[in-house]
Amino acid sequence: MNTFEALASTVIINKENHLISYDDSLQLVGTGRSAFVFKIKSTDKAMKIFFPNFMHLAKEEAEIYKILQGISYYPSIYHVGANYIVIDFIDGHTLFECMTYGEEIKIAHIKEIDFALSLASARGLNPSDIHLRNIFITSNREIRIIDVARFRQAKNCMQWHNLKKAYQMHYVKAYFPKKISATLLNTVAYLYKRGLIPFYRG
Ligand SMILES: Nc1ncnc2c1ncn2[C@@H]1O[C@H](COP(=O)(O)OP(=O)(O)OP(=O)(O)O)[C@@H](O)[C@H]1O
Ligand SMILES: [Mg+2]
Repeated sequence: MNTFEALASTVIINKENHLISYDDSLQLVGTGRSAFVFKIKSTDKAMKIFFPNFMHLAKEEAEIYKILQGISYYPSIYHVGANYIVIDFIDGHTLFECMTYGEEIKIAHIKEIDFALSLASARGLNPSDIHLRNIFITSNREIRIIDVARFRQAKNCMQWHNLKKAYQMHYVKAYFPKKISATLLNTVAYLYKRGLIPFYRG
């Protein structure tokens, strides 16, 4: 058993997708709809452990990261197991965090994200599930995109298109607050997902 495998086996997730326990050398840094993400302490690597019912995504996400290798906007992948992947830890804030902390998202960032996504498309992928928690601005002010598991889906994802529209129509305006509470952002995301915001359906 290699070290990553031993470390991954310490992470216990129950049937209700609650995190029960994990090794002291792991630090929980994020939770998504399908996984818990840990920083492996004293390294620059992150371990994404999928919930039991999303295990199959480990292989899929790993394969997609392999297709993206060499593009600096995406983390490198180091290892894949039955229910986990090991990738670069990203030191920075997601766009969601930037908005709640009041860190301004510049037009140059939006253009760079567009460019990063176009590089994925150029490798035959279909960037999907591009939302505020899957895009980082690093502490060096660089863009990183994570959570690529759905980049091979056939369905056209409008999320990034709609986020850009909202950025241009609202965020850039002087009157628009650059610091927004997580509760308000989550409420907007909830309404968006249910198709309840006109002009931003799908
Ligand atoms: N490599 C990383 N470095 C630092 N933080 C990370 C990393 N990967 C993920 N995170 C944090 O963990 C959160 C969840 O990760 P991720 O988006 O991969 O999970 P998911 O379950 O696939 O998410 P979703 O709900 O978008 O499907 C991210 O929003 C981010 O805050
Ligand atoms: Mg995510």
